[in-house]
Amino acid sequence: MNASKNGGTAVVPGSYDPVTYGHLDIISRAANVFDNVIVGVVDQPVRKQKTVFSAEERVAFIEPEVAEYGNVQVKPFDTLLVDFAREHGAKAIVKGLRAISDFEYEFEMNQLNRKMAPDIESMYMMAAPEFSFLSSSGVKELAMFGGDLSGLVPDSVAARLQEELKR
Ligand code: PNS
Repeated sequence: MNASKNGGTAVVPGSYDPVTYGHLDIISRAANVFDNVIVGVVDQPVRKQKTVFSAEERVAFIEPEVAEYGNVQVKPFDTLLVDFAREHGAKAIVKGLRAISDFEYEFEMNQLNRKMAPDIESMYMMAAPEFSFLSSSGVKELAMFGGDLSGLVPDSVAARLQEELKR
């Protein structure tokens, strides 16, 4: 991979409750394109959902997985996403898209974020086929019923999920 990148800084935001290999794939691809990547972990309930893990724990799940890239930092935020992006001098917000079902929500967020910050471009990466079915909520449901989480989330995350959710 060519090491020269000129994309500046990008924010890759999400609830990451918990991070999955699908998220980690998007983060690693963003790290290949942009000089710096800030993974923004939402520290506020969005879509009225209480998270299983605290923001600190969600950040701690991601950090060891991205340490090898050298240009990725993980930070919690509780402000508007565009303000968080501005604070870090980001030119872009990068998000993953899996299926058409993701599109409607992301389209709405895109319009709102664009209205507030037309100078910050939102960019979308298509999920790799092997992760196109994978979601944090699906993983939580599997964990509740003792399903096998290998290949879906890092082992340490799987262990904590089983601890928290197994019935
Ligand atoms: O799909 P997710 O992980 O729940 O997405 C979270 C996030 C922040 C990326 C999404 O809700 C979004 O794009 N929000 C934009 C509006 C905003 O700034 N909300 C405040 C979050 S603290």
